[in-house]
Amino acid sequence: MRTSIGEIKNNEGKEVEFSGWVHARRDHGKLVFIDLRDRSGLVQVVFPPNVSGASDIRLEYCIKISALVKRRPEKMINADQPNGEFELEAKTLEVLNKAGAMPISVDTDGMEIDEEVRMKYRYLDLRRNRLKENMLIRGKVTKYIRDFLIDKQDFVEVETPILTKSTPEGARDYLVPSRIYPGKFYALPQSPQQYKQLLMVAGLEKYFQIARCFRDEDTRGDRQPEFTQLDIEMSFVEREDVMALNEALLIELVEKLFPEKRIQEKPFPRITYKDAMEKYGIDRPDLRTDKNDPNLLAFCWVIDFPFFSAEGGSASGGEKTKWTFTHNPFSAPKPEFMDDLLAQKNIAGILTTQYDVVLNGFEIGGGSIRNHRPEALRAVFKIMGFEDERIDSNFGHMLEALGFGAPPHGGIAWGMDRLVTLLRNEPNIREVIAFPKTGDGRDLMMNAPSVVDEKQMQELGIEIKKINKK
Ligand code: AMO
Repeated sequence: MRTSIGEIKNNEGKEVEFSGWVHARRDHGKLVFIDLRDRSGLVQVVFPPNVSGASDIRLEYCIKISALVKRRPEKMINADQPNGEFELEAKTLEVLNKAGAMPISVDTDGMEIDEEVRMKYRYLDLRRNRLKENMLIRGKVTKYIRDFLIDKQDFVEVETPILTKSTPEGARDYLVPSRIYPGKFYALPQSPQQYKQLLMVAGLEKYFQIARCFRDEDTRGDRQPEFTQLDIEMSFVEREDVMALNEALLIELVEKLFPEKRIQEKPFPRITYKDAMEKYGIDRPDLRTDKNDPNLLAFCWVIDFPFFSAEGGSASGGEKTKWTFTHNPFSAPKPEFMDDLLAQKNIAGILTTQYDVVLNGFEIGGGSIRNHRPEALRAVFKIMGFEDERIDSNFGHMLEALGFGAPPHGGIAWGMDRLVTLLRNEPNIREVIAFPKTGDGRDLMMNAPSVVDEKQMQELGIEIKKINKK
């Protein structure tokens, strides 16, 4: 039976089995010392001369030993190491698998290594402690959210499709060709927005999902082509209800899982879009009073966004102005602007129920109360200059669904990658994603995107006209 290194304390004086990787190695002739690593930590192992094979093992070999757990003499205790007061005296050694010369070292934080090489060997990169910890804590954050929403708040977790239809979230869609219907395409979801609203029509009342989203847009430090949202939708709520629930969850999560962090202000301050732009020149202000403090978290809500913006910048409101939504076409206006929306007047002045949650200058989430009456949603598309025919072909299913007693509803989505990045003080979201894409959208480890077989293309009825040699 294998014992993990993290359980050493409970095994003093016993001979037990450990399996893991050779993290460091010092050959002192007669005695060979290694640091053995498993997911739970590191410990020093000494191989006396009678254990055969010890001088042949190399860095990152995967090995199994049986060993006596010994407390080190007082003077030899290494207080900097988690298991510094213990040492394993090996009795047997079995090499489970050899390792070739490592293309990257895994015993540093990795920041000194060219990122393209780290990405190519991501499965090795993830062996380093910093990235392993990021994966472990990310899993705990997700579990905390699930426990809070399901056990304490009576939410239901529902999965929604990945192969779906294009949704207007402002980015380009990733398209998947249909084999059965040549010339037709699925789109990967930019978010589960429409499905979660339809789940409210279905009467599920409180939905959430840890949802993968896909957006074909230029990748940046805080953007990936595929990323993860905590997606929430609730029925019979107003703006305050959604904000209160999310604020409570954020505070509890930080205080329980990241006790070293300090939340600058509770309840989270609220700032209108107008004030944020006037005071900070940005709609996601960094309100930290001390930007040198890595443990300071300055959350705030930004509210009262304009619903529409004039495409091309002219907000004169003249007849030819082309309007687009600023956040989400499914949002409801603030109640006092509903008449303006239905009458399609004072368009530049209509404020939406949208709320964004900002942390240290990053937008970590956003949502709104939705238009649950079909005529209000139709008015949004009319203002954007869509003809009835286009509205019905693109959004007929939503308009129809809202007409079957859709309850008032609203929700939010958090950017999970961004949140964990900030909580871990990482410089970009790639550090908290197991297998991220490069800045130009490639997976260097799997070598994607890649060309596919001619046969696959034929089946899909696809012919490449011009190859862009990249
Ligand atoms: P929105 O588009 O604002 O809202 O997305 C919600 C949150 O997701 C994060 N995010 C991203 N993270 C990493 N890479 C990206 N490319 C990326 N794009 C967005 C951000 C953002 O705040 N359906 C609505 C939500 C709703 O109204 O309920 C939506 O998707 O942290």
